[in-house]
Amino acid sequence: MSTLTATASVIGEDTFRQLRDFIYEKTGIYVPDNKKYFLENRLSRIIKEKNFRNYEDYLYYLKYSSNKQDIARLFDAVTTNETFFFREPQQFEVLTNNLIPQIVKENSQMGRKDIKIWSAACSTGEEPYTIAMILLEKPELVSIRKEIYASDISESVLMSAKRAMYGGYSVRNIPPQYMAKYFKDSGGIYALSDMVKSIVKFMNINLIEEREVKQLKGMDVVFCRNVLIYFDDKAKKRAVSLIYDVLRPKGYLFVGTSESLHNVTRAFRPVIINKVIAYQKV
Ligand SMILES: C[S@@+](CC[C@H](N)C(=O)[O-])C[C@H]1O[C@@H](n2cnc3c(N)ncnc32)[C@H](O)[C@@H]1O
Repeated sequence: MSTLTATASVIGEDTFRQLRDFIYEKTGIYVPDNKKYFLENRLSRIIKEKNFRNYEDYLYYLKYSSNKQDIARLFDAVTTNETFFFREPQQFEVLTNNLIPQIVKENSQMGRKDIKIWSAACSTGEEPYTIAMILLEKPELVSIRKEIYASDISESVLMSAKRAMYGGYSVRNIPPQYMAKYFKDSGGIYALSDMVKSIVKFMNINLIEEREVKQLKGMDVVFCRNVLIYFDDKAKKRAVSLIYDVLRPKGYLFVGTSESLHNVTRAFRPVIINKVIAYQKV
């Protein structure tokens, strides 16, 4: 690493392409040619903090460093972590009213007394905790084991998810009865109750790494929302086929409401329930 303090704020074309390809190989996130400014914005702080002379030196360092923290820092920098509780609520209504009763019935026919849901790019935890609260509110799940797995590639969002302290923006869509029951307000910071936290297990999983995804199996439902939009088609196909393997037969996958798996896979059957598309494993 260079000790020179002067930093270049602009990435050269060749370095941009190499950095972009490096990020893509590691994460599936594809930065198009016209988004060089995106990498300049996201990486400039690392360049300054670590005293790299320029992006070329940083790229070289990344390529030959065996330090996992450097890669983790890169993942933190290039991911977009926007999320909030009860985002795209129609999907949660379908989960509650349609899928849960069906899953409980099918699982009990198989001798299973559990329900397993995976939030596959959970960011700071709002999505898996929303699911957890919904499950806790379902009377038919009282004697059913509730397992929620929540994962992300970014270690910093996972740390924040485990803390489970939220600001007003995150909680703005939470129905008042959930707010009163599951949160404690300490001066505008809302602390989630241990009851909800206890049924969510956080993991660091990269959606394009088979070895990492394979730690999970037998999921009834997977939420993989608002992450595949950052991938190119090849990476989307890879992630979706790994998710396929993690689902139990006839399990369901939700992607974001603005996303579609139309050209990505034929292994799922799109099922429309109350205007919501759920992708069922066939
Ligand atoms: C915009 S957030 C979506 C959060 C939540 N699913 C939602 O819809 O509100 C996208 C998340 O995907 C994560 N992500 C990006 N690439 C990933 C990868 N290859 N594997 C796992 N997570 C990834 C990011 O770190 C980020 O937290």
